[in-house]
Amino acid sequence: MAAMPAWEKIIVALDVPSAEAGLCVAQKLHGHVGMFKVGSEVFTAEGPVLARYLVATGERVFLDLKFHDIPNTVRAAARQAAMLGVSLLNVHASGGRKMMEAALEGVRSTQGARAVAAPTRVLAVTVLTSLGPEDLAEVGFQGSPEEVVVRLARLAQKAGLDGVVASPREITAIRRACGPNFLIVTPGVRPVTAASDDQTRIATPESAIRAGADYLVIGRPITGASDPAAAADAIAAEIEKALATPASQAQRS
Ligand code: C5P
Repeated sequence: MAAMPAWEKIIVALDVPSAEAGLCVAQKLHGHVGMFKVGSEVFTAEGPVLARYLVATGERVFLDLKFHDIPNTVRAAARQAAMLGVSLLNVHASGGRKMMEAALEGVRSTQGARAVAAPTRVLAVTVLTSLGPEDLAEVGFQGSPEEVVVRLARLAQKAGLDGVVASPREITAIRRACGPNFLIVTPGVRPVTAASDDQTRIATPESAIRAGADYLVIGRPITGASDPAAAADAIAAEIEKALATPASQAQRS
């Protein structure tokens, strides 16, 4: 299979209050990025309309709703997400193995029921990066954040999930624990020239790809740029550089 071009590894976070605002950004970026992330803000405001429209116009969508509920409910929600034709959806790994398996069952139950060729892939959120060691202990998790992240990533893999969402500083440990075919989708990415905004654990596109990330989730450095397409192209060039070096090839072989 041919390697994925660098620009397809960029997932743009559409953190917007309305479908119209999301479409406006997406239209500027058509052909410059690989996917659009639709999250809780616009989904709560407008329901599935933005995801549905993007899919209908040929875009790929990551539905970032982080399902966490009893297996029966997550199975049904994942089925609905897959029926929308999204390429990626996510669930909390801390919902447990049965819940993750139910999400997969929901997705698989749509096979043959929808026209979209590529199956929806299911990712796990391990530990929210907003949680520090004290927060984790407070909710009853044992071990350092890295230990918990790796434990939950392994559980997600055992449940059959396709990969995880992971911060830049977790990529190496997850890649080591889960092998080369487990998808790692990484937010908190900032090009060298961009502001960090409120992100603390940041990496450049080049270093995140070198560490083993498959996709980068990037919001404000692209959506807030005066020329979003040019900002995306510059990031794709950084990714290209990382993909072309022997260091990243060695990492994945
Ligand atoms: O604008 P920015 O590039 O910071 O957007 C990053 C996106 O990735 C946001 O949608 C944010 O919710 C999401 N995200 C994150 N950190 C995580 C998980 C998701 O920034 N650990």
